[in-house]
Amino acid sequence: MKKNSVVFMLMMSVTLGGVSVLHADEGFASWLFSVERKKGVEPVTDAIYNEECSACHFPYQPGWLPEASWQKLIAASALEDHFGESAELDEQTQQHIINFLTANSADKSYYKRSKKIMASLNKDQAPIRITKVPYIIKKHDEIPEKLISKNEKVKSLSYCEKCHKKAEKGIFDDDSVFIPGHGYWSD
Ligand code: HEC
Ligand code: HEC
Repeated sequence: MKKNSVVFMLMMSVTLGGVSVLHADEGFASWLFSVERKKGVEPVTDAIYNEECSACHFPYQPGWLPEASWQKLIAASALEDHFGESAELDEQTQQHIINFLTANSADKSYYKRSKKIMASLNKDQAPIRITKVPYIIKKHDEIPEKLISKNEKVKSLSYCEKCHKKAEKGIFDDDSVFIPGHGYWSD
């Protein structure tokens, strides 16, 4: 829900029900409060996901891609050839992971970064790379390749945690970036 509609709902409840409605409706108040804190991307809490998807790269938060992207990525046939590697899973684990990813995908998240991801994609776009989402491309377009693909300590933009020191917590603000072999980022 956009900020404007929240303000609109607030105004509506004040006009329709009087201010007392707001005091009575604690659920709404705590929801409003939590929206204020949802600044990054929702951290991963699923132990199986963390275990299975962290062998080769950092376990990306589901809020980086829409459901349709995760469906494509985690199809059994896709995991056989996952960016040139085999990331095959037994059926039960695969089902667990797909449930976790789709329940928490960007299109269902209230976190700020997920909202930005969705806003930058057309309805029919479902990239299988986070690094192909226009919002992510734009945020990194001032970083020279010598600090990314030509930087042995990073290798590619896919390795978020090499530069984003609080990536696992879901925090990606530019003041928590430290590029290996280079240093803090100041633009
Ligand atoms: C055997 C190693 C391996 C495992 C296990 C693995 N991946 Fe990957 N993954 C890769 C490689 C290699 C890439 C491509 C990285 C690059 O281009 O530098 C990749 C890329 C990705 C990307 C795209 C990153 C980008 O560029 O935006 C996503 C999303 C992804 N993996 C999700 C998963 C999920 C979810 C799992 C768990 C089911 C998983 N991976 C398990 C090797 C693996
Ligand atoms: C080579 C280091 C590097 C890697 C790898 C990297 N980033 Fe970044 N990222 C940066 C830098 C530097 C900035 C700040 C750019 C600027 O402000 O011009 C940034 C900015 C961002 C921002 C915007 C932050 C803000 O305050 O507006 C997001 C979101 C983000 N990165 C997500 C990701 C994700 C997700 C990945 C992995 C798929 C990733 N980044 C990989 C260096 C990196």
